[in-house]
Amino acid sequence: MEQAIAILDSGVGGLTVVKEVMRQLPQEKIIYFGDTARTPYGPRPYEEINLFTRQIVDYLLQFRPKMIVIACNTATAVAIDRIRSVVNIPVVGVIHPGARAAIKMSRRGIVGVIGTEGTIRSKAYEHALKEISPYIEVVSLACPTLVPLVEEGKFNTDESRAAVREALTPIRTYPLDCLILGCTHYPFLSKDIEAVMERPVALISSAEETAREVSTILYHRGQLARSKQLPVHQFFCSGDARMFQQIAQTWLGEHIMVSPVVWQVPNII
Ligand code: DGL
Repeated sequence: MEQAIAILDSGVGGLTVVKEVMRQLPQEKIIYFGDTARTPYGPRPYEEINLFTRQIVDYLLQFRPKMIVIACNTATAVAIDRIRSVVNIPVVGVIHPGARAAIKMSRRGIVGVIGTEGTIRSKAYEHALKEISPYIEVVSLACPTLVPLVEEGKFNTDESRAAVREALTPIRTYPLDCLILGCTHYPFLSKDIEAVMERPVALISSAEETAREVSTILYHRGQLARSKQLPVHQFFCSGDARMFQQIAQTWLGEHIMVSPVVWQVPNII
């Protein structure tokens, strides 16, 4: 049987990565976990984010995946090194792919980054960008109000546009040449973000580049799926499965089945 790619996030945000993996690697089976009962991760202490990420990874390992994609910037920033040290399959995060995509796009070297409090506090994007190109100017902004909106299915609405306008006020007029959507939930709000920025700016989602990295690693390891049959993906979430399914189907444009998971471990909420 083909081994799957396991993809995880605190909620629906990682579906932005799922969509790109499905597009670039249509033969690959995906097993997705959205921790919707405990989203958002952004404001949580790092120890909690480490613990939650580890719990999801342990859950996903029962399916014997060939790779884990941490499709959450906050969990990537905080937990990827620890996860890499305990599993023996490749673990791909979203921050370096996002930084690479921004460098490719940037012309004048002024890069904006928006993300959760946890991601911005970690300076993970700043480090990733400057590691490649030390002269890049990085303007970072935490936008803690946006993840809950997306989890409630509010995007492309008057409410989401007003919230995005308020959240982005400190950088709306800044002469950025690209803006990294440093949270996998934010591509859901792309239209709202484009509408409120006062100067033209290229929006960078790490999804495309992350899927490319997944593809490259699998190719080099000789692990690309060979089956010619269309894969049957599996989706799990720890919160409201109906809401998750609705958002996922809207985003992915296809019918999916979602299995609810109840954590058997103490929840810190
Ligand atoms: N999608 C997650 C990220 O990329 C959102 C984190 C959260 O739950 O606050 O950071």
